[in-house]
Amino acid sequence: MTAIESRPTSAAAITAAAVASFENCPDPRLRTILQALVTHLHAFATEVNLTEDEWLEAIQILTKTGHITDDKRQEFILWSDALGVSMLVDALAHPNANGATESTVLGPFWTPNAPQRAYGESLIEEPGGTPALVRGTIRNTRGEPIAGAQVDVWQNGDDGLYTVQSDELPEDHLRGIYTTREDGSYAFVGVRPVPYTIPHDGPVGAMLDAARRHPWRPAHIHMIVTAPGYQRLQTHIFDSTSSYLDSDAVFAVKRSLIREFQLRNAGDPETPTGVTGQWCLVENDMVLEPA
Ligand code: BEZ
Ligand code: FE
Repeated sequence: MTAIESRPTSAAAITAAAVASFENCPDPRLRTILQALVTHLHAFATEVNLTEDEWLEAIQILTKTGHITDDKRQEFILWSDALGVSMLVDALAHPNANGATESTVLGPFWTPNAPQRAYGESLIEEPGGTPALVRGTIRNTRGEPIAGAQVDVWQNGDDGLYTVQSDELPEDHLRGIYTTREDGSYAFVGVRPVPYTIPHDGPVGAMLDAARRHPWRPAHIHMIVTAPGYQRLQTHIFDSTSSYLDSDAVFAVKRSLIREFQLRNAGDPETPTGVTGQWCLVENDMVLEPA
């Protein structure tokens, strides 16, 4: 038998040969990942009996995903979010909260270098929406306040858009970094968030449409909390009255992250400086795990 005649042709033999081709990969973790990837990818194609037309369509979808991705639009992360992979990776990384605040998805709209803002300062640089005073204390799992923690906040406006999605809005609108005071407290004035759709004018949107899935996320505010000696916390607070809490397009709602946005009237003694008319108060303490 010649070398060509001995090449694998059955489905099972092709899978075995592709797995074996990584046997000499010197990095054991990379070898494990590549062999598992090939094993599961082949099992998937075999299970659905993938046709040649479907294979070609998948290649075209991946090509479109690459073409629509740039420094402001990350369609690959959107696939990960919409297929539940982002939240699966989050669950694997944080199987138990151990008394700490739960984490959730990052999403595509965080941008570096948000402005440092003072305690209680407003994030709002363009008026619109109902102001929301969010305040709380950052503690460790022993209940001790953490001074000097950084709370990086970003959110959408009442038009549903994040600042990075608009060419017209000032760059620092609805984002800012707050440093906790000696007693671990932080406070900021944002806007009551509204439900919004994940970007759905690209390949992920086409998949949602074809599957009759909606693209909506419930109203939320994003935060990343960091402090030396503690694990980084990437989380949200969700408005308890929002639609879509039960059907978030990216599976990111955790019951422990739902907060009441308490309506307050103008003239309330706790009204933040500069706020006129109705506003909301949100109490949101957070707990960090040791590194
Ligand atoms: C977000 O919350 O900003 C988001 C998360 C996942 C996909 C799209 C948007
Ligand atoms: Fe978001």
